[in-house]
Amino acid sequence: MQAIDPIIADAERAFGACATLAELEQAKSRFLGKAGALTELLKGLGRLSAEERPKAGAAINEAKGRVEALLQARREAILAAELDQRLASESVDVTLPGRRQSDGGLHPISLAQERIERLFASMGFSVADGPEIENDFYNFTALRMFPDHPSRSMQDTFYVADSDKVLRTHTSPVQIRHMQSHTPPIRIICPGRVYRVDHDATHSPMFHQIEGLWVDEGISLADLKGTIAQFCSAFFERDDVEIRFRPSYFPFVEPGVEIDMVWERKDGEVKYLEVGGAGVVHPDVLRNGHIDPERYSGFAFGMGLDRLAMLKYGVNDLRLFFENDLKFLRQFR
Ligand code: PHE
Repeated sequence: MQAIDPIIADAERAFGACATLAELEQAKSRFLGKAGALTELLKGLGRLSAEERPKAGAAINEAKGRVEALLQARREAILAAELDQRLASESVDVTLPGRRQSDGGLHPISLAQERIERLFASMGFSVADGPEIENDFYNFTALRMFPDHPSRSMQDTFYVADSDKVLRTHTSPVQIRHMQSHTPPIRIICPGRVYRVDHDATHSPMFHQIEGLWVDEGISLADLKGTIAQFCSAFFERDDVEIRFRPSYFPFVEPGVEIDMVWERKDGEVKYLEVGGAGVVHPDVLRNGHIDPERYSGFAFGMGLDRLAMLKYGVNDLRLFFENDLKFLRQFR
């Protein structure tokens, strides 16, 4: 049998010469692997006499234990050396500025909407909501825009094929929905997305409106005027606001008006801006909302939210709102 002590000495030298864990694995196989020196010794036991065998077996096993201990010691030494080296070579520059998470911000339309909601809330209006995918009844018929009525083509929309569903063309259907599920006094606004087949510099197929509805005993156009004047003066932070009603036609109000606001007075000239449509709610519309027109009356208005936001923030192109260019949006943070 080959002498054991030289094998151990050999292993110690071989392990000591290894600088990496990979090299150490290689060296290990020379002693403990399938064809390793100690493994070969074990295989040779069979050729020994029954007398010699136990002693030799015990000696080989003891040698194995020692080689494994040497291996483990070297492994730890290599790891410790690697760690030392990393600590020496890597450094943290504590003077570098931290990596900041960039702040998000609300879209200007959302900012304007929140502002409008707050202002109307201070006048006692709550916020109501309705579906953007409406049915024909709420979007048109209940508002007296009957199937063959020309006013329907003014608000041509996106119809869902083979159904009575449309993308709502205005927020007015929320009037009906809200009246059907509430009793007067009703004082709501409804901001939301609306859709029309329209696309150019000042029209987008999707845009935003703010509907308003106030139904109670004795509500008139005078209340409408006061409400809108107060809103405009607060929204634009101006105390010279003046409101003008221009007769107009919407099937669901009678009388109906366009609301203009004085925007500029220059050299005796007055420049008006259109703010929205409005009017006194038609008795049939109140009936469709299950409200008795003999007892109650009300006004409704619809304003363009995008338009209000453009005026408020000095934006001159509607499309900027929907292109989502960060250079534009960041200015509102
Ligand atoms: N719904 C109308 C439109 O979109 C606006 C409006 C609302 C007019 C309420 C009168 C009353 O054009």
